[in-house]
Formats: sequence, structure tokens, C-alpha cells
Amino acid sequence: MKNVGFIGWRGMVGSVLMQRMTEERDFDGIRPVFFSTSQTGEEAPQFGGHRSTLQDAFDIDALSALDIIISCQGGDYTNEVYPKLRRSGWSGYWIDAASALRMNDDAIIILDPVNGKHIEAGLNNGIKTFVGGNCTVSLMLMSLGGLFTNDLVEWASVATYQAASGAGARHMRELLVQMGALNAHVVKELQNPVSAILDIEQKVTEFTRNGSLPTEQFGAPLAGSLIPWIDKKLDNGQSREEWKGQAETNKILVRSQDIIPVDGLCVRIGALRCHSQAFTLKLKKDLPVAEIEALLSAHNEWVHVVPNDREITMRELTPAAVTGTLKTPVGRIRKLNMGPDYISAFTVGDQLLWGAAEPLRRMLNILIK
Ligand code: HSE
Repeated sequence: MKNVGFIGWRGMVGSVLMQRMTEERDFDGIRPVFFSTSQTGEEAPQFGGHRSTLQDAFDIDALSALDIIISCQGGDYTNEVYPKLRRSGWSGYWIDAASALRMNDDAIIILDPVNGKHIEAGLNNGIKTFVGGNCTVSLMLMSLGGLFTNDLVEWASVATYQAASGAGARHMRELLVQMGALNAHVVKELQNPVSAILDIEQKVTEFTRNGSLPTEQFGAPLAGSLIPWIDKKLDNGQSREEWKGQAETNKILVRSQDIIPVDGLCVRIGALRCHSQAFTLKLKKDLPVAEIEALLSAHNEWVHVVPNDREITMRELTPAAVTGTLKTPVGRIRKLNMGPDYISAFTVGDQLLWGAAEPLRRMLNILIK
């Protein structure tokens, strides 16, 4: 049995990983060792029924004893510990949720339903570092893999609708507190069916603008609003989140030349943990919609084509319907006015599952099978 170290198992992505590994009985096939950055020596969690004490997450000797390390601790931890560990001669497998190592030449971005063959080839060539992709990219490729992997996409333009969870646990709390505060501010008026809606709206708008809402995490009100910027600004005017779209998509698809242009606007909205994305796709040829749908459906077992029908779309293609599931539905597929090889598509996926934890546990299973 392999010794597998877990760092950052208590955080949000780590907790979802623990939950998924427990559900799938992944702990049965490994000897888990739990690390902590602050509580060394205390009792470790008993996922899978193993009993142990917490090890120091900065102890290079303790980390070196492991066959596989899975980190959900974040980029700062990776940047501090990973180089020291490799320099010490450790040649185990490092699986990471953070983006720090993602674009390194000796690292593969893991999304095995899309690039499983590339992962296998990398393992055969001695690659030891495997990094989960950006959530929007992973979720796009889970939903639209049938077009991308068949090399049918000339370019993709996207507008994202990203959930609060992508920014972190504290951000989710802040969004809910903002929502509650807005409601509380007009709760009396709402109880009165004849109160004027524009008066209620004005009261809410003034309250939103007067600094009453907590905004320490997002930096601006999100409830009842949106924030059309995610992550840092780059010199070319893109946000870093927008930059990742093309860079990571092409890395996952193993296209260092003949790059597929992917670009658009990344927007934070008031959903909790499902990212949605609206695409304009320029295809390389004019395919009938039925053929496009068939290719998309056949790509993997989690994608599901939602017919372009109002009732079904409202029922199935929303964060409310998809949250907490591994489903990565795609719908609103139709030809656009721009021409017969332009289509629209709308995707939804749980940002913490396929967008973060699921590729990590699947990579672990590839390593121990
Ligand atoms: N950067 C993403 C977001 C989540 O802010 O929604 C991590 O992939």
C-alpha cells in the first residue's frame, strides 16, 4: 500500500476531496498520513478508519517518506515546500489543487476524461507532478470535450458566471450575509403586498451603495449585483482568470502549436458553488446540431446534453440543479446568426467537484491502480 500524505484536507477543496474519497472508499487502498501547518501532534482525522497523529506540513523529512502527496493547501505552501522537497531528492508523486506549478513543463494538468492518454504517457515518461486545472477550464472541457477533442473548435469566446466558492469559503459566507442584509433591510415592505416595488428597489440600492454591506472579501457588493473581474490584471488588459482559459485549455489538449484561441470575460455572480459559462463557438465546419449533440454526449459519462427547450433548460441547466453533483450538463446549443459554423452553448458544473477535488482523487486512483 502506498503512503499518501494530505495537506490542506480541512479547507473547502480538501473537505470535498475527503468527502468524495470516503464515498468512493478510496482510503481502503492507501495508507493516509495527515499533515497540518499548525496542529502537529494532535489526533489526525480518521477518514477510512485509519488512526494517526498530525504531522508537520513543513517537515521535509516527514514529507520525503511519502510515495504520493496531495496538497489542497494553496499556492504559497506549494511555492515554499515543493522546491525544497524536490531538491532533497524526493521523487514521489505530487498532486496539487493550486495553480503554482500548473504551467511548468514537467507538470501535467489533470483531467483524465479529457487527457487520460496524455497522463498515462506522462507517467511512462517519468512525470511526477500533476496539477488540477482552473475550474472554469476543467468544467468547460468536461462539458464541451466532444468538440474540443475531435478538433472541431476553431475558437471559443466565453462569458463566465462564476460562483462565490471559487474565491473561497469566506467569500461564500460574505455573499450569504449580504443577501440576508438586503432582505432584512426591506423585510417589512415585502410583507406588505401593496408596497411599491420601485420604492423597495430604491431602498435596497441606497443600502447597497452606502457601504453598509460587508465587502472585505469581494471588495464590492455581490448580492443583487455582479463583479466583472476575477483575479489580477495582466498587462494586456485580461484578468488572470481570463488568461488561464486559453493557456490551460491548450496545455490540457497538448497543443503547443496550432493553439485554439479561447478568450472572453470572467464574471463573479451570486451563485454558491456552480460555475456557469456562455459560449460562442466557431466550429471548423458546418455540422448539424444533432451531430454536435451526439459528439458532446459521447465524450464522457458526466456530460449530459440538455435539449434547447425552455422548460427543460430551466429545470436542468442551472446551478440550483447541478450543485453537489458530478454532472456537467451543456445546453442552449443552436446555430447563431453569424453563420452555420457558429454555435452557442451554455455549461454548468460544480466548481468544487469536477472544478477542483474530483480530478485529484482520480489521479490518485490512476497512481495506485
Ligand atoms: N479561480 C477560480 C474562481 C477558482 O475564482 O472562481 C479556482 O479555479
